[in-house]
Amino acid sequence: MASEMPPVTVRFARAGAYEVRFGPLGSVPSHAADVGLEARNALVVTDSNVGPLYLTTVRDALASAGWRVHAAQVPAGEASKSAEVLADLYDAARSAGLERRDAVFSLGGGVVGDVAGFLAATWLRGVPLVHLPTSLMAQCDSSIGGKCGINHAGAKNRVGSVWPPRLVLADIATLDTLPRPELAGGMSEVVKHAILEGPAAVGDLLASWDSVVSRDRASVGRVVRRAAAFKAGVVTEDEMEAGRRAHLNLGHTFAHAIEAAGALAAHTHGQAVALGLRAALHLSASLAVRRPLAPDVTLPAPFDRPDALAARLDTGPPLDAPAHALEQALAWDKKRSEGALRFVVLDGAGRPRLADAVPAPMIAAAWRRARACAANQGAV
Ligand SMILES: NC(=O)c1ccc[n+]([C@@H]2O[C@H](COP(=O)([O-])OP(=O)(O)OC[C@H]3O[C@@H](n4cnc5c(N)ncnc54)[C@H](O)[C@@H]3O)[C@@H](O)[C@H]2O)c1
Repeated sequence: MASEMPPVTVRFARAGAYEVRFGPLGSVPSHAADVGLEARNALVVTDSNVGPLYLTTVRDALASAGWRVHAAQVPAGEASKSAEVLADLYDAARSAGLERRDAVFSLGGGVVGDVAGFLAATWLRGVPLVHLPTSLMAQCDSSIGGKCGINHAGAKNRVGSVWPPRLVLADIATLDTLPRPELAGGMSEVVKHAILEGPAAVGDLLASWDSVVSRDRASVGRVVRRAAAFKAGVVTEDEMEAGRRAHLNLGHTFAHAIEAAGALAAHTHGQAVALGLRAALHLSASLAVRRPLAPDVTLPAPFDRPDALAARLDTGPPLDAPAHALEQALAWDKKRSEGALRFVVLDGAGRPRLADAVPAPMIAAAWRRARACAANQGAV
């Protein structure tokens, strides 16, 4: 059973270790006690979709273990990663009388995790944080690694910190209510992690794909745990993002350009990442054969299986941002990273590396690939 899966340990040089545990939301008090949190004041931060579904369970469980529970509900959606919402949460923390040994619990997806995490990082210069992730993205990615923050003036994650939680408790059963587009978006990160992990992970995910997307709970649990363990391994090794953690950006240089080129309205973040992964795999194969490949070619080994996996993802509507807008968005990324346009590419599954000085025709060919595969709507 997914709820009995062994925990994943994340080690942080500065802040010690914490675990990603798997179990029902109602078991949060015993896990919290187990990691040394006393039952005191709790501020549970959730959003307007997740709150009505799961807040009562968490509130009742904490209250019956002696916690004094306060709750703050933010509007669902990325717009809640804002200074205004954060200010409301500071007010909620003040009303709750939240002190240094009290705790913030984030109950929701990556948005709630990021804004509640930043609240915990900054309130009284830092209070204990527990993540209760309820989206696929949050369970296998955003709740692990300690990054938190808000957006500013249209720029994502411009203001933030690294504040590791004391505990992550992922209840796989909550994914039953996750809307399908959010499941599809989370699968983009799951696929990315599998490709970065290696050929066995790619093969296993291809084999279990149908049962995962039809939400067979045991299959979903195994996939979440594996992706979470992969991310935990990377952040453990590379806490300050000096090396290996940068590989987690596979496909993201292209995805950011797609979003920045104004296609954001047409493509969800998950769909942009799915397109970005197809482009990055195509670029990797072009680099391997030393020529720009045709957009519709079956990629040669060892890129064929990772590409077949990425091809299962929902890439949304056709990519219709003009080529010059995409190139311009890449150029902006280049300016931001001090002159070097750097891609994460692969020498094969599990063998990522950073590449700069990539020939422009190969980048153009990767964009043509993204356009060619963008008819793959609704693949999850
Ligand atoms: N901190 C990090 O390291 C990190 C890493 C990756 C992404 N992120 C951030 O995560 C955010 C994206 O996370 P996300 O995809 O979880 O988005 P999200 O938090 O907006 O959740 C997606 C939607 O699903 C709903 N939802 C969540 N769980 C549900 C459930 N169990 N049942 C029903 N509805 C549910 C939410 O209310 C929301 O409408 C972005 O802001 C991104 O920047 C952070």
